[in-house]
Amino acid sequence: MRKLPEALTNHPGQPVGLAGHNAHHDSAWKHVRGQARYIDDLPEPEGLLHAAVGHSEQAHARVLNMDLSAVRSYPGVIAVVTVADVPGHTDIGPVFPGDPVLAGEIVEHIGQPIFAVAAISHDAARKAARLAKVEYQPLPPVLTTAEALEKAFYVRPSHTQQRGEPDQALADAPHRLRGQLNVGGQEHFYLEGQACLVEPTEDGGMFVHTSSQHPSEVQKLVAEVLGVPIHEVQAEVRRMGGGFGGKETQAAALACVAALLAHVTGKPVKYRLSRADDMVQTGKRHDFFNTYDVGFDQDGMLHGADLMVAGRCGFSPDLSDAIVDRAMFHADNAYFLNQARVTGHRCKTHTVSNTAFRGFGGPQGMMIIEQAMDDIARYLQLDPLTVRKRNLYREGRDTTHYGQTIEQHLLPRLVDELEASSDYQARRQQITAFNRKSPILKRGLALTPIKFGISFTAKHLNQAGALVLIYTDGSIHLNHGGTEMGQGLYVKIAQVVASAFQVDLARVKVSATRTDKVPNTSPTAASSGSDLNGMAALDACEKIKAGLVAFAAEHFACEPGEVRFENNQVVAGDQRVDWAKFVQTAYMQRVSLSSTGFYATPKIYYDHEKGQGHPFLYYANGAACSEVVVDTLTGEYRVLRTDILHDAGQSLNPEIDIGQIEGGFIQGMGWLTTEELVYSDTGQLLTTGPATYKIPAVSDTPPDMRVTLLASSPNPESTVFRSKAVGEPPLMLGISVWSALRDAVASLADYRYSPPLDTPATPERMLTAMNVTRAWAAQQREEQPCSIA
Ligand code: MTE
Ligand code: MOS
Repeated sequence: MRKLPEALTNHPGQPVGLAGHNAHHDSAWKHVRGQARYIDDLPEPEGLLHAAVGHSEQAHARVLNMDLSAVRSYPGVIAVVTVADVPGHTDIGPVFPGDPVLAGEIVEHIGQPIFAVAAISHDAARKAARLAKVEYQPLPPVLTTAEALEKAFYVRPSHTQQRGEPDQALADAPHRLRGQLNVGGQEHFYLEGQACLVEPTEDGGMFVHTSSQHPSEVQKLVAEVLGVPIHEVQAEVRRMGGGFGGKETQAAALACVAALLAHVTGKPVKYRLSRADDMVQTGKRHDFFNTYDVGFDQDGMLHGADLMVAGRCGFSPDLSDAIVDRAMFHADNAYFLNQARVTGHRCKTHTVSNTAFRGFGGPQGMMIIEQAMDDIARYLQLDPLTVRKRNLYREGRDTTHYGQTIEQHLLPRLVDELEASSDYQARRQQITAFNRKSPILKRGLALTPIKFGISFTAKHLNQAGALVLIYTDGSIHLNHGGTEMGQGLYVKIAQVVASAFQVDLARVKVSATRTDKVPNTSPTAASSGSDLNGMAALDACEKIKAGLVAFAAEHFACEPGEVRFENNQVVAGDQRVDWAKFVQTAYMQRVSLSSTGFYATPKIYYDHEKGQGHPFLYYANGAACSEVVVDTLTGEYRVLRTDILHDAGQSLNPEIDIGQIEGGFIQGMGWLTTEELVYSDTGQLLTTGPATYKIPAVSDTPPDMRVTLLASSPNPESTVFRSKAVGEPPLMLGISVWSALRDAVASLADYRYSPPLDTPATPERMLTAMNVTRAWAAQQREEQPCSIA
């Protein structure tokens, strides 16, 4: 069930589809009709070759010998390359080195590419790639976070953020609890797998069609691998069939391999991963091992906290430094930790290099404090919502452990509103009563808030460019640095441009993101796509408008202040001209009708050494209340109802935002419940497709799902039309399901015990949690025979 703010659906007398209106995703019809083109749908160029790679079969080994003769002689094979064939850089690490384009002497995970094949068909390339005879000298692998922690085996140095005297506060607090949690990883499972198509150009360069969130990085890395200037390579992204962070850095590796093969053969090369290869060869959400040590008083208020988050990075740094940073920045979630220390470790393991995934470490960090909230509540015999509410950031208790002051205190209001609209208190009583009577089925309820920082924590990435062109018929062409992965960025930015000129959205066309239209772009990530590119596009529009206003004042003999853009017209003094006619007139009078635009986020800084700063321009907030029912015999469960109240500021497009919230919540729920990555004890991923890796299906959607945008809450920061980023934060609303599952299990001990529940909370883990809880209750009965009914 969807509730849309009424005022935003009807706008008499205004152009259609301005910022704030509901407008369809620009490709909605093409998506549902199968007409939207993805990489594998592009018309194939003459002489196209297909790529595949040979994988390492060992987690950690020295390659003693590689016999590729059978690969080379396989019918249809045109070229086979190794790292020795790379003319330029061999390391394509996005931030720090560590990612060889093809492995050399040492392999560091099962599935690591060690050579690449170009053949006349996809099939031939894949079959040939399996024929290599590789001789390995095994080296000892490190496969788990626990082992990496024990050996202090890290891809990047550890880092601490501290405020006040946590040790003293913990020692002095009336109560103290410790706990730990394993948080599982997550496969992106984008519908379109990793893919690219690379065509050699005239001067030794390449044109790269890629399914990437970061075309500028693809361009730069391909240029470096080929040893040519960046201007010889162009990258284009029309759309992705989902990215979710998995195509922020890891699309580049494919493009580099394809470009290398195109360079060697002089032919266009397509490289598309099968689902199984994609799951083995590309990084996932980091799984984490987290611990907490908290001190609190009788009311459940935190006096101090010492938190540790350790992410499994895999074999290379990739983006892990920033991901573990974000886990640290979010280990407080929405709560004032008081005297606090947060330590983050970046564990190296001989597994695939984990990467960005919606929330970028933030969700994993939040889990530990959410566990602590539940545990404190059970310990003090309070409702978990009471403890959560008491600890929310509010005036006077508003500085984070990294020194940023929370300026907008939305959460107390937002949580109160959701508590009322979801009927939390009445349902809490009903559920407790139900559980007393129901021997097998147990229900659980939880309401969890989120606070998510918006901005890239790498300061230089917080910039964007745009290009706006107006043609003589008044139609407008827009390009910006952001990429479309289904989130609706293109339509939002088009709405911003339509608003700037006050024309119908239908006049604005956004075309594929290209490195030769807008240069040096940041990845579309950190939920910042509309914030950054919206402002850059607005800047371009304002520049064009300045010229148009000056022209109109002169041409129609009025003051510049008397020129207005409204309802598909330009008003100059007492004259009113249709937009298209006005544009034509301006053209005839030789007025510029195009401009670039630029934006850099203000106010942000962070001192990594000190662990203090103001890394986020603002925070996005939301809360979710989920009710579950658990079968205590099988461990199976269902989510019965979820209520969400989310803050999108002054939404650019409420329907699109609600779509992001629904999708984010479901993806978060899947991460914490059924999506399980299983590795063998040699480091081989065993869950390599939908048969063994279970993402939520339509039937897993809560049958009663109520999503509402927080009303009248413009962003106090001057973001584009006072909107807020919405891409990642809703994923963390899924935490309410995990907490509700723990609540249902806790009912087995009359809510006096807080069951440990690692994620994903599969039915197996639920059974274990229930056994542990029952055993605890039995022991209590033995010790105090009368205390539990
Ligand atoms: N929504 C869809 N449909 N597909 C995606 O791949 N990626 C998410 C989110 N929503 C994604 C999505 C992630 S990880 C991010 S960072 C943001 O969208 C990026 O887009 P934005 O900055 O424009 O919100
Ligand atoms: Mo999103 S994980 O920042 O691509």
